[in-house]
Amino acid sequence: MTAKSSPAAQLEANREEALLAGGAERIERQHGKGKLTARERLDLFLDRGSFTELDMFVRHRLHDFGMEKQRPYGDGVVTGYGLVEGRQVFVFAHDFTVFGGSLSETFSEKICKVMDLAMKVGAPVIGFNDSGGARIQEGIMSLGGYADIFLRNTLASGVVPQISLILGPCAGGAVYSPAITDFVIMVQGSSYMFVTGPNVVRTVTHEEVSFEDLGGADAHAGKSGVAHFACENEIQAIDQARRLLAYLPSNNTETAPAVASDDPADRDAQELDSLIPDNSNKPYDMHAVIKAVVDGGIFEEIHAAFAPNIIIGMARFGGASVGIVANQPAHLAGVLDIDSSVKAARFVRFCDAFNIPLVTFVDVPGFLPGTEQEWHGIIRHGAKLLYAYSEATVPKITIITRKAYGGAYDVMSSKHIRGDINLAWPSAEIAVMGPQGAVEILWKKDLEEAADRDALSGRLSDEYREKFANPYTAAERGFIDDIIQPRQTRSRIVDALEMLRDKVDTNPRKKHGNIPL
Ligand code: HXC
Repeated sequence: MTAKSSPAAQLEANREEALLAGGAERIERQHGKGKLTARERLDLFLDRGSFTELDMFVRHRLHDFGMEKQRPYGDGVVTGYGLVEGRQVFVFAHDFTVFGGSLSETFSEKICKVMDLAMKVGAPVIGFNDSGGARIQEGIMSLGGYADIFLRNTLASGVVPQISLILGPCAGGAVYSPAITDFVIMVQGSSYMFVTGPNVVRTVTHEEVSFEDLGGADAHAGKSGVAHFACENEIQAIDQARRLLAYLPSNNTETAPAVASDDPADRDAQELDSLIPDNSNKPYDMHAVIKAVVDGGIFEEIHAAFAPNIIIGMARFGGASVGIVANQPAHLAGVLDIDSSVKAARFVRFCDAFNIPLVTFVDVPGFLPGTEQEWHGIIRHGAKLLYAYSEATVPKITIITRKAYGGAYDVMSSKHIRGDINLAWPSAEIAVMGPQGAVEILWKKDLEEAADRDALSGRLSDEYREKFANPYTAAERGFIDDIIQPRQTRSRIVDALEMLRDKVDTNPRKKHGNIPL
């Protein structure tokens, strides 16, 4: 027996064959499209040398269409586990060089195996998607395989974090696995997601649209909200996933890992004292508030390009991970509309599921009026945010910087829906509606009959503002725990988070609630 044919040598030869995947030519083609291979992606994503592969020798069982002659090891998906910053994660990466990364029965079994392990161990699942969809030769077996994954995505939701990187095609029903996961990261110019592609769109609706415009990274990050991040290239996308994981616990029984912080807890943010414009209708950038108070000014914004009238993202106070939700007066005056409500609601639920405290900054004039919003369901979509905040039992800290009007006051983590610590700046205006609107309704007749309508309206508005558009009425009732100088915001948040560290709160026993979807 020669050394080459020994069992040990055979194993090495088989491994080499598996590692070569679809072959040098297809790997070159993949690189030619500006894309990395599945293994290169995992190499970049995981801590060096930490990857343990599973099921390298799995092969499909198909005997039709000449497939019995093409049975590459691995069957088009690389699966296993490894470490990110020393913490356990489970991964799968579609290998486009093998049957276009298309999903077969065995392919899905490999993914299900790592997902099942992740659930037993309590560790995140990160999927690298780059696939031609259902493997056409496998027919219904492939559809069943997708459904097996969808079920696991759903069962894992709220148990372990799930992140999807879309790094190539992702079409048809295949989009629904990433859609169920917590975060979707896309790459501009080389990834797309859609239920039906441009050709079907042309036939059915007679619209001419490119792949990129229909389902590219910018379309989904800015228009549909399907993608949370649109990155310039794969390296950025992979880095984004690693950065995000650093803020998250491994599962729903843990808290996110704290890091050492050298930013003093009692640091005053003097610049905030002069941030709010004298004219309360003038915008300012809420990012400035967030960056001034979080550890080191580091804010990991999520969904930045979608519904920018609300800001969401991760940050740290005293080294501990928090989720930030903030109205953005610099965009549409920070109004709550359908997209911003849905964006924030999903994030609030994510944070609550994974024991991440919520810090909410409020400057909201109310809900956006109009037929467009009403007919598309601002009532039921706005209710999602109300529901999400109401059911959340993690520590909830709220800072009202300026406006908190109407139903939006209630929605934005108010005391009434279990806000734990609710603070207001002296510039806060907490009332049923703004002075202008209130005056128009309350003194309609007087204004109609007035010789100088503007003068009367101005005087009544000033009176209303003095009486109602301030934080004192709310503070009198205990709806606001304290009115603070803006510069004290950081120290008061750190203090509140520390006080709430061992908070326990529960919801009534039930199978699950019925969030207005
Ligand atoms: C089997 C497939 C495949 C598929 C691609 N390949 N898609 N094999 N089943 N679905 C193979 C090709 O035959 C080719 O093999 C290799 O992958 C690369 O494909 P190319 O076409 O050369 O690559 P490219 O030009 O980059 O085009 C990529 C593509 C295109 C846009 C994804 O391949 C494509 O349109 N594929 C079909 C997509 C599709 O209709 N899928 C089914 C959707 S229905 P060789 O040997 O030449 O390298 C679906 C239902 C899911 O997914 C439902 C879930 C509930």
